[in-house]
Amino acid sequence: MSHPPLRAVLETVASYKPSEGVHGPTARTRPLSANESPHTPLPGIVEAIEEAGSTVNRYPDPGCGALTGALARSHGIAEDRIVVGAGSVALLQTLFQSIADPGAEAVYAWPSFEVYPTLAALAGVESVQVPLDGEAHDLRAMTARISSRTRLVIICNPNNPTGTAIGHEELREFVEAVPPTCLVAVDEAYHEYVRGPEVTSALGLCAAHPNLVVLRTFSKAYGLAGLRTGYLVGDARVVERLRKACLPYAVNTVAQRAAVAALGLEEQLLRRVDSTVAERTRVRDALVRRGWEIPDSQANFLWLRLGRNAAGFGAWCAGRDIAVRAFPDVGVRVSIGSAEDNDRFLAAAEEWRSARRTAAAGAGRTRQARKKAEA
Ligand SMILES: Cc1ncc(COP(=O)(O)O)c(C=O)c1O
Repeated sequence: MSHPPLRAVLETVASYKPSEGVHGPTARTRPLSANESPHTPLPGIVEAIEEAGSTVNRYPDPGCGALTGALARSHGIAEDRIVVGAGSVALLQTLFQSIADPGAEAVYAWPSFEVYPTLAALAGVESVQVPLDGEAHDLRAMTARISSRTRLVIICNPNNPTGTAIGHEELREFVEAVPPTCLVAVDEAYHEYVRGPEVTSALGLCAAHPNLVVLRTFSKAYGLAGLRTGYLVGDARVVERLRKACLPYAVNTVAQRAAVAALGLEEQLLRRVDSTVAERTRVRDALVRRGWEIPDSQANFLWLRLGRNAAGFGAWCAGRDIAVRAFPDVGVRVSIGSAEDNDRFLAAAEEWRSARRTAAAGAGRTRQARKKAEA
């Protein structure tokens, strides 16, 4: 049977794979794969959601006026420097579409947020992936890969999936080295979890660099992943053009009201972030004590560079009803969840290591016995 022709890229582009057992009424798997907040929404946010629910016979405010105003006040910037989207991933898509002239290239580190290559391919933008230096951005190598075709550079800070973060001075020097004809997008989805004193938001660099945009989300620290709201801050002329490229009415009424309510409850939400950061330290310390090598994470997840064992460890965790994100042949990312879920993960990781030690000892004994028999 013949099918209507669709773009060839749709044959090759990777599908986004949700974790099994996490969604639906029979969900019982511990959700440590999507870097969500483990906390359910505060009562004030639930109230805002309920109130907004009674108005959904009407279209949402297409300009997200109340939310844009609240964000402008919170950051101390003009409203015309902010564009709100249905998750920061939607704004990333808008960015890729907005630079997708024929031959356009986007430079970003790898491994980094797994959606970047997909969005680039869908927009017809060539990806230039620059390997991390260890687990961190190699800004020198990234600068070297910027050419006259580069229209977008993405810096994921802290980087998903490794959790490493770039210090302010290093980032400032990098932004200064990028030609003003090329957009720099700093994806700060995990900014609220940063504790390294040398790391600050790139928002402070925007005034001096009209080619710089910063992406933020309500999905992580603000606990609204299910409602899909993010925003971008940049130069007013860039923002004006990006707004034209966004779908009208993309951010629904419930999401807009909940995000405004979340901004009003920021202090309480950021205290929850503190507890996640404390859990991050506890889980990492426990793993390191048991011999795991884990880079210092400034986000709400940890990175286990397991190489060819990554898929096996992912399956091991899944077999124990724990969803983690495995990147085959590279590593495994595990989100920091509730203390109980984190303990489940620690137990699974410990069992895995002792099972491997037992298997390795067994293999050693077999080798010795074979050598003896051959002698
Ligand atoms: C680095 C990074 N950027 C953006 C996003 C997308 O966030 P949102 O839920 O706002 O689309 C994620 C989600 O995991 C992420 O890890």
